[in-house]
Amino acid sequence: MPNQKKLFLRALAGETLPTPPIWLMRQAGRYLPEYRATRGEAGSFLDLCYNPDLACEVTLQPLRRYDFDAAILFSDILVIPQALGQHLAFKQGEGPQLDPIRDQAGLTRLNIDGIHDVLGPIYETVAKLSSAIPEHTTLIGFAGAPWTVATYMVEGKGSKDFANIRRFAYGDPDGFAKLIDILVEATTQYLLAQIKAGAEVIQLFETWGGVLSENGFHRWVIEPTCKIVQNIKAEYPDMPIIGFPRGAGLHLLDFKNLTGVDAVGLDSGVPLKWVAENLQKLGPVQGNLDPMYLITGGDEMLAETRRILTTLGNGPFIFNLGHGITPETPPENVGKLVDFIRNGG
Ligand code: CP3
Repeated sequence: MPNQKKLFLRALAGETLPTPPIWLMRQAGRYLPEYRATRGEAGSFLDLCYNPDLACEVTLQPLRRYDFDAAILFSDILVIPQALGQHLAFKQGEGPQLDPIRDQAGLTRLNIDGIHDVLGPIYETVAKLSSAIPEHTTLIGFAGAPWTVATYMVEGKGSKDFANIRRFAYGDPDGFAKLIDILVEATTQYLLAQIKAGAEVIQLFETWGGVLSENGFHRWVIEPTCKIVQNIKAEYPDMPIIGFPRGAGLHLLDFKNLTGVDAVGLDSGVPLKWVAENLQKLGPVQGNLDPMYLITGGDEMLAETRRILTTLGNGPFIFNLGHGITPETPPENVGKLVDFIRNGG
């Protein structure tokens, strides 16, 4: 059982550790000068995602600096719509842009048959990483959860109010279910291929679940996530799966109980005493330092980190942020955070 040595897998298996394993969402990214250099070499952000050598390189960069307990595949959640045939571009400073699908008729533009032809280079990156990461490091594969990926497919870009997708989902639930079903199937196939290539843990990013109504959350977040978890566990019963339902609030217990995920990622707004007394009794949790603390990086960051460690450290726990690290973060503050945690907080 060589894997049992990896701290990250031990925490995911439910062990309470004296020092929690650490990784950070978006740990490879623009805050690192070496990332910016490699990205310049690759061309566009998407060119980087589909270049196995360079994607492997940027995944390893934060490990060299901070020796994180986990490496996360460098890619993006929006490669799935692209592989399904929806046009995708990342415009400098504007984020993702897609040709929006606003109704059931728009689904004819999607085709699941050829996804592995597009996604092949990403599986190659996973395979390269699997042999390139240090022995004590765990390799995380990931995908966006269907609702969150659908928000970009329907809105065509990032959104503040998600009016188009809510109108589609609430107004034509049967038509919208067809889109979600396509995403459940494509995401399942994508994640199974990542696992075959060497991913040891899967994280599902549900960044925008918090904008839904109560029934909407059950139908479009919990049900599709549950199906993906069941599909993966049918082939890999022991594969640990982390769900990150950002903004889920009072839905967190249902999310944990009804989806079958092994661990739950927490955003920075979740009350930690409640987590320790309720959610963490059901399984490992991961989170949840507000990434903005990393920008100033002073005593406030350390005090908040200590509060998180003290409150969640008595159960199975993985240290992370409550959302992705931002490009403005000074890299030395990340080092300060990691040292503080590894020295016992
Ligand atoms: O965590 C990691 O280091 C792994 C790589 C990763 C990226 N995106 C790289 C990336 C992961 C896991 C993601 C997930 C992702 N992508 C999510 C879910 C998590 C979250 O942050 O909410 C979402 C919603 C996306 C979609 C996306 N990708 C947006 C909205 C943007 C533009 C905003 C931005 O930060 O620029 C991206 C681009 C993106 N994905 C970058 C990186 C490093 C920046 C691209 C660049 O180099 O310019």
